[in-house]
Amino acid sequence: MERIVIQGGKRLNGKISIDGAKNAVLPIIAATILAKGSSQIHEVPYLADVNTICSMLSSIGAVVERRNKQLIINTNLVNTTEATSENAGEMRASFLLMGPLLARYGKAKMLLPGGCAIGSRPVDLHLKGFAALGAEIVMEHGSIAAHAEKLVGARIYLDFPSVGATENLMMAASMAEGQTILENVAEEPEIVDLANFLNNMGARVSGAGTNLIKVTGVPELKGCNHVVIPDRIEAGTYMAAAAAAGGEVLIENVIIDHLKPVVAKLREAGVVVEEEADGIRIKSDGILQPVDIKTMPYPGFPTDMQAQMMALLMRAEGTSVISETVFENRFMHVDELKKMGANISTEGHTAVVQQVERITGAVVKATDLRAGAALVIAGLMAEGVTEIKEIKHIKRGYDGLVEKLSSVGADIRIVERDDESGAERIA
Ligand code: UD1
Repeated sequence: MERIVIQGGKRLNGKISIDGAKNAVLPIIAATILAKGSSQIHEVPYLADVNTICSMLSSIGAVVERRNKQLIINTNLVNTTEATSENAGEMRASFLLMGPLLARYGKAKMLLPGGCAIGSRPVDLHLKGFAALGAEIVMEHGSIAAHAEKLVGARIYLDFPSVGATENLMMAASMAEGQTILENVAEEPEIVDLANFLNNMGARVSGAGTNLIKVTGVPELKGCNHVVIPDRIEAGTYMAAAAAAGGEVLIENVIIDHLKPVVAKLREAGVVVEEEADGIRIKSDGILQPVDIKTMPYPGFPTDMQAQMMALLMRAEGTSVISETVFENRFMHVDELKKMGANISTEGHTAVVQQVERITGAVVKATDLRAGAALVIAGLMAEGVTEIKEIKHIKRGYDGLVEKLSSVGADIRIVERDDESGAERIA
């Protein structure tokens, strides 16, 4: 199995360019189901999650073609509304096919979604919303079927501003009869990118990026061209990596506004963050101050940066308190970081990170995508060698992570290791 091996202690210097946002491109790919004709999506990163959603689309009859960073998707030949292929269970975002299938074809059947093992992650808000739009929902043996003669606009209040539910309902409402008002919705930049894509296809969506979205249904949508926004979590991860390892790194192709909470916390930790015309420059001597962090829906501090910040704060001079309010059970990286010498205790949704003298390399396991990124950051600042197992999780969300970090001076590589004998093969 492949592992990432890092020799820690190298300072990082140079430039890293950010790819298109995973969490924007996945719903946009799902939304192509709504359109007649082809859509061209640009700046599509090479990620396992992108491959998974594309193969789900292919399995229902769509024609999906990749030309470098461009995807061309034609859904005219979709011949089934049952997206129940095996890989659907691998990724929670697969459930984003439900809204578009229901809107375009009046029915859909999906497996209960999988994804990172971070809490129970139900889809009740998606289903309540579909029901409010007039769908009948039937659950059986791990699958969910929805059916509607026609969807009719409604006023829907989300109990929690769920990103996925906001996206699924926006897509379903875009072809419903009349107006839908979605209240207490998520405000993430990826929601705005999806709304822009839908509007490019001819939808009438307004208010994306605020907590109230209005959608006036239209009978037909057409394929369009779209450039995906840069990935703010990928950017934040490399900002944290540079801050942790020390050095000077320019992070290019970012939208600075999307990174405000991460920038604020890095500055509080004593990192120099300079906003430049072509990116964000991080300067760090590796000496960090403790900070407290509470994850919140956007524009609050992103839960997808919690693990990486925790890794960084292991070396801060004092005690940091991290509260996770978005997901249950999103501290699985703590046990792995402890193997590297971290002093972290957790109680419920709170983790207390205390200063330690030394962080040392160890054999650790990526338990989910961002936990994997946290281990990479810990490995960069550790003494000695860190070996990360289960890197399939990291490949779900980081395009070229090893290459990007190597290019700024990290000693990081992928090895193929025989898990039985422990012998290394060249990857
Ligand atoms: C998206 C992101 C993920 C990010 C998360 C929060 C994608 C592909 N993934 O995931 O990277 O960590 O937003 O920023 O965009 N919930 C319910 N019922 C529901 C839906 C959600 O209780 O019907 C709960 C979840 O269990 C969780 C919280 O709401 O505790 C947030 O989930 P949500 O915002 O829906 O996250 P995702 O869309 O799955």
